[in-house]
Amino acid sequence: MEFNHLLVTVDEEVLVITINRENKMNALCRELITELRVAVQRLYDEPELKGIIITGKGDKAFAAGADIAEFIGLSEEDAKQLATAGHEVFNMIENAPKPVIAAVNGFALGGGCELAMACHIRIAGEYAKFGQPEVNLGIIPGYGGTQRLTQLIGKGRAFELLMTGKMINGAEAYRMGLVNQLGHNENLLETANEMIQLIAAKAPVAIAKVIESVNAAFNNEVNGLAFEIGAFAHCAATEDFKEGAAAFTEKRKAKFQGK
Ligand code: COA
Repeated sequence: MEFNHLLVTVDEEVLVITINRENKMNALCRELITELRVAVQRLYDEPELKGIIITGKGDKAFAAGADIAEFIGLSEEDAKQLATAGHEVFNMIENAPKPVIAAVNGFALGGGCELAMACHIRIAGEYAKFGQPEVNLGIIPGYGGTQRLTQLIGKGRAFELLMTGKMINGAEAYRMGLVNQLGHNENLLETANEMIQLIAAKAPVAIAKVIESVNAAFNNEVNGLAFEIGAFAHCAATEDFKEGAAAFTEKRKAKFQGK
């Protein structure tokens, strides 16, 4: 598929998705959300891919939110459809069986912050700024922000950011637990790639089960502890578990096959 708003490349078996609307602060228009779904689907379909890095073009913005121009004349029904489409893609990211890392190169506001939060891990460059300014527009986050921000930084801080709409820099976001690591724009992709390569050297089934189990902690319909028991047992039945344990006792590096 040809993308109008994304640059999609593969580097060392890592899919790099760059939001490419630099002159609009990489705002997430509807078409871009559809394109993002197609791009992210590749991680589910292509076994050789080790993970995804999502970033924004340029040094100014990761993504400065949903496209506000598309809000003009938005009906209640349109809004529901818009939010539902965003949720579907962001859930795909959150539940992907391999790591998805946000390399936050600039403003991550509104939907941009929500996109970064749907990723498993966030690395911030020196120009990164985070915020949920929707209340300035008379609306609230519609791509999971009220839930994921609360999960990541706790209720009190989430209330503060969501109600004031204020922006915080990378260092503050790191202190709150919104960001995993601080880096530099110059080598943000390299840093994210290193992390994905590190994860890709582990047993793939175990990684997928870590993702499912952590996500189960936030799923009201699932007992997370019970889920973990099943996931642990599932891993125990894999060839990779036998290999991992054998490699440890034989003092060698494990060769995992994802089985
Ligand atoms: N949707 C649509 N267009 C956006 C946008 C968004 N979320 N964010 C920025 N743009 C556009 C601007 O309209 C402008 O377009 P123009 O040159 O055609 O007028 C262009 O991107 C550059 O933005 P500008 O505001 O001039 O840059 P700045 O450096 O002065 O400010 C921001 C940068 C990010 C602080 C500012 O653009 C902003 O506040 N954006 C909206 C953030 C927001 O409220 N997001 C939540 C949406 S629900």
